[in-house]
Amino acid sequence: MTLAWGFNHLDPAVAQTAYETLGAIRRGCPVARSGELDGFVLVTGYDEIREAAQAPERFSAYVDGLGASAVVTELREAVAPMFETDAEHHHQWRRALATFFTPAAAAAQQQYVRAICRETLQELIPRGAGDLVAGYTQQVPPLVIGRVLGLGELERAWLSEHVRALYGAQTLTDTQQIGRVYADFLLEQIRDRRAHPGSDLLSCMVTTDVDGRTTGEDELVKMTMLMVAAGHLTTADACATATLQLLEHPALRELVAADSGLLEAFVEELVRHEPAVAATGRTATTDTYLGRMPLSPGDRLLLAWGSANRDERHFADGDVFRLHRERTPTPHLGWGAGEHRCLGRHMARVEVRVMLEELLRAVPDVRLQPHANVRRTFGVIRGVAALPVQWSHR
Ligand code: HEM
Repeated sequence: MTLAWGFNHLDPAVAQTAYETLGAIRRGCPVARSGELDGFVLVTGYDEIREAAQAPERFSAYVDGLGASAVVTELREAVAPMFETDAEHHHQWRRALATFFTPAAAAAQQQYVRAICRETLQELIPRGAGDLVAGYTQQVPPLVIGRVLGLGELERAWLSEHVRALYGAQTLTDTQQIGRVYADFLLEQIRDRRAHPGSDLLSCMVTTDVDGRTTGEDELVKMTMLMVAAGHLTTADACATATLQLLEHPALRELVAADSGLLEAFVEELVRHEPAVAATGRTATTDTYLGRMPLSPGDRLLLAWGSANRDERHFADGDVFRLHRERTPTPHLGWGAGEHRCLGRHMARVEVRVMLEELLRAVPDVRLQPHANVRRTFGVIRGVAALPVQWSHR
């Protein structure tokens, strides 16, 4: 039996030592079978992950049951356009939505991101202490993706509150209940945009005809949910992990606080070292090999992006965070690879950079509370459960 046989990325016990475990598996067997979650193939090596991501003719982006549990059971059968689709269908969607995710479109959000960071911090500062995840890193990103989708101010606030409640829900019943209300809200927005399209992302999603057909409502609701999750969960967790990195390394934090120009390199190294999108799936569509592993149609693969970024065949001291890391001939895979490479990466870079900049400016002496026990999370997404911190308030 291999070291990977009992590996389940969704098991909270994996989180604290995820990269030690994945490193040991990778060095032993970069493509290995796990018997968990009805069996899947765990891919941890850089070359093998890149090969799978760049071969859509052998590996579909659709995968059943390796992601986070479905928040709305009724939508389980629906296939989310773009995220879970391949080939020409996927290309048409990427082309249609590209204009909302260019570097210029991301830069245009910067002022708004800064304004809501300041507003959120203004409320926090007088308290002198608190959890930065619930109080800050999870507050900003849902408002930003809500704005890109084209929601008005009240709808954005509604969305923000409900997605935080949804992903913080403790029981399956609560998840399902909030998920249903959330799905109804999105359906209402989708119908409204169909009747009165504007120039926002949601209008584009609901009016784009692909393969000569109009996309169905269930598919659109699922696509919108994934779009919100892609914009919100990732950025919130990236910012939380980045903040923890700074809190645990005072010299590094002094450096970037003194020169915010370094934050760009800091964010890129963070996405290599601890990518917020930790692992996503693929499904083999043909008899094939990945590494030395024979695969059959229907075999499910889990691509552990963060493990690829520490692969010793490509990154010297990959486990070490290095602000001035030399560029390698092969890029890190923290934003993915191939046709599904992160569409929102320019926006994510702006958001995380501005959130950190504003935090360091507003509470320069922010520090972990004494004896704070910080718990990391792992699954599809990698982050930090809570950041109990304190700061001086004058
Ligand atoms: C630090 C934050 C982020 C990280 C690390 C990240 C990472 C990734 C990765 C690894 C993928 C590829 C998944 C796969 O191939 O299975 C992906 C896809 C995607 N990301 Fe991001 N992402 C981030 C933030 C964002 C933001 C802010 C948005 C904005 C909406 C976004 C939108 C998307 C979309 C739409 C896709 C799917 C693209 C496709 O299927 O063609 N991401 N992201």
